[in-house]
Amino acid sequence: MKNQFDYLVVGSGIAGLTFALKAAKSGTVAIVTKKDKLETNTNYAQGGIACVIGQDDAFGLHVQDTLDSGDGLCHPDIVDFVIKTGPDRVKELVELGVAFNLGTGADSFDLGREGGHSRNRILHAQDMTGKAVEKVLIAAAESDPNIAIFENHLVLDLVIQHQSMKAGSVDLYQQDTCRGAFVYDVAGGRIHTVVANAVLLCTGGAGKVYLYTSNPDVATGDGLAIAYRAGAELANLEFVQFHPTCLYHPAAKNFLISEAVRGEGARLIDKRGRTFMEKYHPLKDLAFRDIVARAIDTEMKTSGDDCVFLDITHKDSEFLKGRFPNIYSRCLSLGIDITKDPIPVVPAAHYMCGGILTNRSGRTTIENLYAIGECACTGLHGANRLASNSLLEAMVFSHAAAVECMERIGSWRSRVFPEVPECWAGTCAENTSQSEMVMIAHNWDSIRRLMWNYVGIVRTDKRLALALTHVLQIKMELKEHMPNIPLSSDLAELQGLALVAELIIRCAIRRRESRGLHYNVDHPAKGGVDCAKDTIVRKSAAEEFLALPAVQCG
Ligand code: SIN
Repeated sequence: MKNQFDYLVVGSGIAGLTFALKAAKSGTVAIVTKKDKLETNTNYAQGGIACVIGQDDAFGLHVQDTLDSGDGLCHPDIVDFVIKTGPDRVKELVELGVAFNLGTGADSFDLGREGGHSRNRILHAQDMTGKAVEKVLIAAAESDPNIAIFENHLVLDLVIQHQSMKAGSVDLYQQDTCRGAFVYDVAGGRIHTVVANAVLLCTGGAGKVYLYTSNPDVATGDGLAIAYRAGAELANLEFVQFHPTCLYHPAAKNFLISEAVRGEGARLIDKRGRTFMEKYHPLKDLAFRDIVARAIDTEMKTSGDDCVFLDITHKDSEFLKGRFPNIYSRCLSLGIDITKDPIPVVPAAHYMCGGILTNRSGRTTIENLYAIGECACTGLHGANRLASNSLLEAMVFSHAAAVECMERIGSWRSRVFPEVPECWAGTCAENTSQSEMVMIAHNWDSIRRLMWNYVGIVRTDKRLALALTHVLQIKMELKEHMPNIPLSSDLAELQGLALVAELIIRCAIRRRESRGLHYNVDHPAKGGVDCAKDTIVRKSAAEEFLALPAVQCG
């Protein structure tokens, strides 16, 4: 792998690819992705992209829906920015060749509906919107001579230059600058030090921190862990969005039943065929996602049932097959004919509303380090993301980051790169043995169960405190034994997973109220203005004690 680029992009979903395509006009771009380039959250997105396009829609309505969903924590200026510039970004996608489903009028799109939206405004490509977007963006990136894509390359840590800014003898402030990353070539078994003028973390979500999730296996929160270890600020990690309707079937792993199905009229029912959402919210099945997920959780806990059902059998079967071909065929392969049978569903971890804190350009609190997409916390989602706002957010911030980077690239090029260490301060393959490999699988499982049982849809002070004790214990165990375990993707991901779990718990403990996706039985009411602020976490000197990795190699 070449070791110097203008831009190093980590992740090959909509955020990374959109940025790369724009930034490649001004310099060289490396996209590193830890598995196959198509193995991204984007590729699995079913619903679509929320955008003000319909005749009956208005920016103000979409802004208001987003603010209502965010439950007092959205940053209104960011909401305004994303929603008003969104249509330009969608236009670019259409020009690149993404084929959204068309409506009946000239130049019109078929706009779907999802929970919390007061208008039909979801652009979609049947029920495989992410795949349609990813395909077009990957093809464009692959034909760009300035972009190189490295599959099976996992970023372990960032290269950070710590710099004291002095005026005479007075230490004014410390300014940390990102200079690149340590990249693990999984197949080759080597760690490369890659230097870059700007590093873009576009690593997606962290659903795998929970036992049940709609996310693919890659969603292990790597970007969050990397940024935290580097000293960046993260925010609002307590707001984990549980999607109300994941398929409940022993052979179905992570399969989502899109909210668009409810948008087309599906009703949630219990085992006896009774609807229940009317008990919880006037918007019933199309209430905000936090409300629907909690309602299902309550119904399951009070009835003792393993799941609830989603019933769309009243719709025309040809319509269902055409509108939801992916859901129809996946369910049919498991013996569920959605045109005739109610679909068994349960809530599962789906989206991280918090993340690496960024400004309006996607820039983090570390110089030259950007975070875009699900791994970022821009202020758009607040305490609960409005459905289908995330692909829109990724496009808007990729554009903003690219504009800023292209303005700064001239001054960046004139600087000299500092000496960068040739190795990662983590575990290397020397002096290791295979004998403790069981620790990896065991702790992966422990963390995911712990988070599901103690830090799930409904929380209590006691369970959060217990969860923190357990996760710190796991981290201590890893710290002690990691140096003896050979480096692998599983090990590096586990290290990040443990940290992300700890940070979610710490944020949840700090929020002593219930708001949006964070519901704590011991603090059931929403707090006053004092609580209406972001929960910000940053590595402190004391935490270095527990910090992983533990050994220096090379
Ligand atoms: C869905 O299709 O239900 C997912 C949409 C989203 O999470 O925004």
